[in-house]
Amino acid sequence: MSEARRIGERVSALVDALATISADEGRLTRLYLTPEHRRAANLVGEWMRRAGLNVRMDAVGTMHGLLAAGRAGPQAEKRLLIGSHIDTVVDAGKYDGNLGVVAAVVALEEMRARGMALPFALELLAFGDEEGVRYPKTLISSSTIAGIVEPNILELTDRQGMTLRHALAEFGGDPEHLYTEAYGRADVLGYLEVHIEQGPVLEQANEALGVVSAIASQGRYRVQVRGEAGHAGTVPMALRHDALAGAAEAILAVEEVGRGGARSSLVATVGELRVSPGAGNVIPGLAEFSLDVRAATDEARAEAVAEIRRRARQIGLARGLVIGVETMIEKPVSVCAPRLKRAIASAITKLEGHTARELMSGAGHDGQAMVRLTDIGMIFVRCRAGISHSPLESVTVEDQGLAVEALIGTIAELAGGTG
Ligand code: GLV
Ligand code: MN
Ligand code: MN
Repeated sequence: MSEARRIGERVSALVDALATISADEGRLTRLYLTPEHRRAANLVGEWMRRAGLNVRMDAVGTMHGLLAAGRAGPQAEKRLLIGSHIDTVVDAGKYDGNLGVVAAVVALEEMRARGMALPFALELLAFGDEEGVRYPKTLISSSTIAGIVEPNILELTDRQGMTLRHALAEFGGDPEHLYTEAYGRADVLGYLEVHIEQGPVLEQANEALGVVSAIASQGRYRVQVRGEAGHAGTVPMALRHDALAGAAEAILAVEEVGRGGARSSLVATVGELRVSPGAGNVIPGLAEFSLDVRAATDEARAEAVAEIRRRARQIGLARGLVIGVETMIEKPVSVCAPRLKRAIASAITKLEGHTARELMSGAGHDGQAMVRLTDIGMIFVRCRAGISHSPLESVTVEDQGLAVEALIGTIAELAGGTG
């Protein structure tokens, strides 16, 4: 059996174990600060402990596993951070985020078995909120470490009206210490993450691994369409201010704007819609929908959002509706650091025997927050047909093993090739 296969089988077993922890029977759903998140965090903590790490959970539920430097030197007090996330979308695949956390744990197990002694400390991070499904802001966990959480974040509410403050306290976190978890820039050497590509490029190129060049510019917004509720049987069509009909027109405008920006990789998505009061015989008085806009440049994203806002205003005027677009997050393009890209590319080339391909990430990642603290670097892993955010996500056992080897190789490169 090849080394990659042997390691891949270990990774695969741990990914499968994590995938059994779900809120839903028969599908994987694990949202931030839920009992399922807690069980997954405990399991990852246990794996970290067994890999020889010093484990703690921070104020916002992130699991940290620290391995002190194995040899003396000027960097012995500094940490190289390696992480990914253990929250999922609804009806998720089992690799998004989870593969990166497991790959880091297995890399540590392997490095220990190989007797690698590093001139710096390593810290594994299992974040709980990359997906931003439960609360309207995303990357709460990595933003905490990066020291960029917004002042009023604890008052955010989920769909059940539970504040982040309350959810954190129930989870066993510490809302009062949210703002004291930030790391110092001088104490860290960079942030590395293994993640599935979530796109088809590597598969089409017949390559297992790639180097991320940057993470796309991303904005998330909440659109609120206010009309007038009324009786479905008595209000004549010409006199209606139907919030849902206006939202439908605005959603089609979002799609049209998104389609117009193919050159800048522009994508615009409405993934969630809520109608109020929500009865078959009542004209909708309120419709709210999510809006997610991404592009290869900040300018292209900003132009698209401005155009969507302009069209929403027009639709509101024509239909007698009030349409508001509230910004939830806006993250500029996050560029990966040349020195980390070089280390990753060199590790991939040693493994695969060809020049490593660079590719941009359209998906969001914790690196978008970590880049505010330190240099970021990401290793992408091929996934079948580029499918993600779906239970059909699939990664071969061999590729899972190669991802671990690439991570170990990258760490060794950063340690000066001496590992
Ligand atoms: C998370 O996966 C995102 O890209 O939204
Ligand atoms: Mn992810
Ligand atoms: Mn995701």
